[in-house]
Amino acid sequence: QTGMFTYDPGFTSTASCASTITFIDGDEGILRYRGYPIDQLAEGGDFLETCFLLLYGELPSAKERESFERRVTRHTMVHEQMTRFFTGFRRDAHPMAVMVASVGAMAAFYPDSTDVADPNAREIASIRMIAKLPTLAAMAYKYSVGQPFVYPRNDLDYASNFLQMCFAVPCEEYKVNPVMARAMDRIFTLHADHEQNASTSTVRLAGSSGANPFACIAAGVACLWGPAHGGANEAALKMLEEIGTPDRIPEFVEKAKDKNDPFRLMGFGHRVYKNYDPRAKIMQQTAHEVLDELGIKDDPLLDVAVELEKVALQDEYFVERKLYPNIDFYSGITLRAMGFPTSMFTVLFSVARTVGWIAQWKEMLEDPAQRIGRPRQLYNGAVERSFVPAKDRG
Ligand code: SDX
Repeated sequence: QTGMFTYDPGFTSTASCASTITFIDGDEGILRYRGYPIDQLAEGGDFLETCFLLLYGELPSAKERESFERRVTRHTMVHEQMTRFFTGFRRDAHPMAVMVASVGAMAAFYPDSTDVADPNAREIASIRMIAKLPTLAAMAYKYSVGQPFVYPRNDLDYASNFLQMCFAVPCEEYKVNPVMARAMDRIFTLHADHEQNASTSTVRLAGSSGANPFACIAAGVACLWGPAHGGANEAALKMLEEIGTPDRIPEFVEKAKDKNDPFRLMGFGHRVYKNYDPRAKIMQQTAHEVLDELGIKDDPLLDVAVELEKVALQDEYFVERKLYPNIDFYSGITLRAMGFPTSMFTVLFSVARTVGWIAQWKEMLEDPAQRIGRPRQLYNGAVERSFVPAKDRG
């Protein structure tokens, strides 16, 4: 504290903005989008109406919903030249690297919606990204497995269309499993927005400079990739696979408590939630639904996850620090059962979070008081000193 600034390494005690979009009470484990509790939206609504709610502040009427869905559906295809762009990547490129690049490259393919000063351009860029991120994500997956890209189908709902673009192949008919589609849709809703998390703050900061919408969302994708943030779902599943069986849990719990060991329980803990992440409960239920639908009676990873949660929540170290499972703890089990490789988990998170990033970016741009973001620092480096020419430095 220098009288001017307070140093807070995680910005959790300083509000970076005012917002009407998402409310979190970390102590009570409450999450609401525009005032609606996340469990009611996840159970009773669907992802597209959540998109409408986040973007425009109200749940859509039937007419508004129909028109919004038609607008999104009509933008699901990407410019055909983007397929050429994709073929420049190595097949083993991490799909998140492909997403960072292709979302940013959208500015080169859709230059008519890059002028952030034009509300119409902002609106069309928003619709384009909500519509095309699933297509780009599916293309990234298809490219990584060496299968041909599958075009979007406008007769399918958002989640079903995404699943068919990922898993359909030209040589046989693909039927979307409605339980999988419902689970995918709910997972999108759970990940749609989350207040000023690291990637959303990144999007806001990038947007405050007037950068085009595609560049701002690409910045959010890049930040989300980190294992402490959206990359945790991939890391959590790898951790559960490494633990392997419940009898190895105590060894990993002790490792996570050891300050000299960088290992942490992935999918556990949160910057804001000091209670159970409400999304994690719904994710666990969704995992059971998907596994039941697939006839998987006891998934060893789910057994390890449920037992690990039980052991950790009885351990003083985790209880004292209020460390609970977060959304990433169970999501990987569900996504793996649905057929996605771990490398796609954070990609799916970015598809869902795009609408939250856009809603927050629009809110910031529409704020008349908005200025370029410019965090300050507490300087504790060298005091002033005179330059010494190289010949005199010894
Ligand atoms: C997401 O911000 C958001 O909203 C993000 C997100 C969203 O929707 O956008 O919710 C999505 O990113 C969820 C978080 C996913 N990340 C992980 O699951 C990675 C594993 N979790 C940790 O890396 C950690 O919990 C963080 C990064 C999430 C938070 O780390 P902090 O800021 O250190 O947490 P803290 O201040 O609450 O830590 C308090 C103590 C510390 O120990 P002490 O210094 O007090 O001794 O708890 C320890 C931490 O070292 N701790 C852990 C731990 N998480 C915190 N110890 C072991 N295992 C863990 N997972």
